[in-house]
Amino acid sequence: STEELGDRIRAAKATLGDRVVILGHFYQREEVVQHADFVGDSFQLAQATKSRPDAAAIIFCGVHFMAETADLLSTPEQAVILPNLAAGCSMADMADIDSVTDCWEQLEDLYGTEPGADGRVPVIPVTYMNSSAALKAFCGEHGGIVCTSSNAVAVLEWAFARGRRVLFFPDQHLGRNTAKAMGVPLEQMPMWNPRNALGGNTAEELEAAQVVLWHGFCSVHKRFTVDQITAARESHPGVRVIVHPECPMSVVDAADSSGSTDFIKKAIEAAPAGSTFAIGTEINLVQRLAAAHPEHTIFCLDPVVCPCSTMYRIHSGYLAWVLEALVGTADRAPEVLNRIQVPHEVAGNARIALERMLAAKP
Ligand code: 13P
Ligand code: SF4
Repeated sequence: STEELGDRIRAAKATLGDRVVILGHFYQREEVVQHADFVGDSFQLAQATKSRPDAAAIIFCGVHFMAETADLLSTPEQAVILPNLAAGCSMADMADIDSVTDCWEQLEDLYGTEPGADGRVPVIPVTYMNSSAALKAFCGEHGGIVCTSSNAVAVLEWAFARGRRVLFFPDQHLGRNTAKAMGVPLEQMPMWNPRNALGGNTAEELEAAQVVLWHGFCSVHKRFTVDQITAARESHPGVRVIVHPECPMSVVDAADSSGSTDFIKKAIEAAPAGSTFAIGTEINLVQRLAAAHPEHTIFCLDPVVCPCSTMYRIHSGYLAWVLEALVGTADRAPEVLNRIQVPHEVAGNARIALERMLAAKP
């Protein structure tokens, strides 16, 4: 049962002490989050990784790209463990290194590679944290950077100081919503359409482009609609609608505000008692916030429960399993299971792109 697993997790954690740190993303199940030493958005968890160089093992309760990032930001001696290796992210899978390299080469053909009179290079690649380490390495190698939903504006400013254009992947919505908020007109952010049998972007489109968007999206956040916001405003006059910037542009525009998972949490914490919120993000976070704030009315914009199915793949059984393996038994030596290790060939450049992000944060 969940209670028994909770007892086993607590016992193993007590035995391991400071040798282990458990990081949990806001979207994790309650049965997992209650055991985490740090709970946060993806940027905060990247920072938390760096804050515990003393821990021999970092158990990352989140998805694969987050564990890869923790491996890149931890010391070589530390082992990063993903309790269930099947916890991926469908958005991260929507951009692979071969297609992005192909796109990059086509953009180089079009825009050239030499810096302009203003010293800015033709294109800067920017990858959302939700991407493979190989894509972070691509950015590190080509003068680019990583962003998260909490620092996307600062990172795009960093990129525009160095490049005349940005290639943004994998999430079209975060890219579009952020660039729009910075004043980039929609017609200057075309979606990349490879020059292949199906066509390609027009020359005019690419000539005018300031941000070239990849076609990725989050299957959880794309479910939110303007109709749901309209319905929430009708049923709850005075409601504050806050959504994650992975939602489509029309939804972000119709909401009162948008931001990372931590932004949503802080907005709720700062509100006067008796406030009403309709939230457009993953259900585990919405339910936790509702439980933590009985003084407010908090509900999910989508009446049909929408968990992130891959975040959900981490449950307390897996957490107990990897922790108990670290402890070992009389007849079983302590063991690191499910270690995530970014291959050496990509780690160096991926780390460069991540460190640029950590330095670019205002
Ligand atoms: P945050 O950076 O806001 O935690 O978002 C991560 C994520 O995967 C949202 O879907
Ligand atoms: Fe990926 Fe969306 Fe899940 Fe976030 S909510 S981990 S973007 S699938």
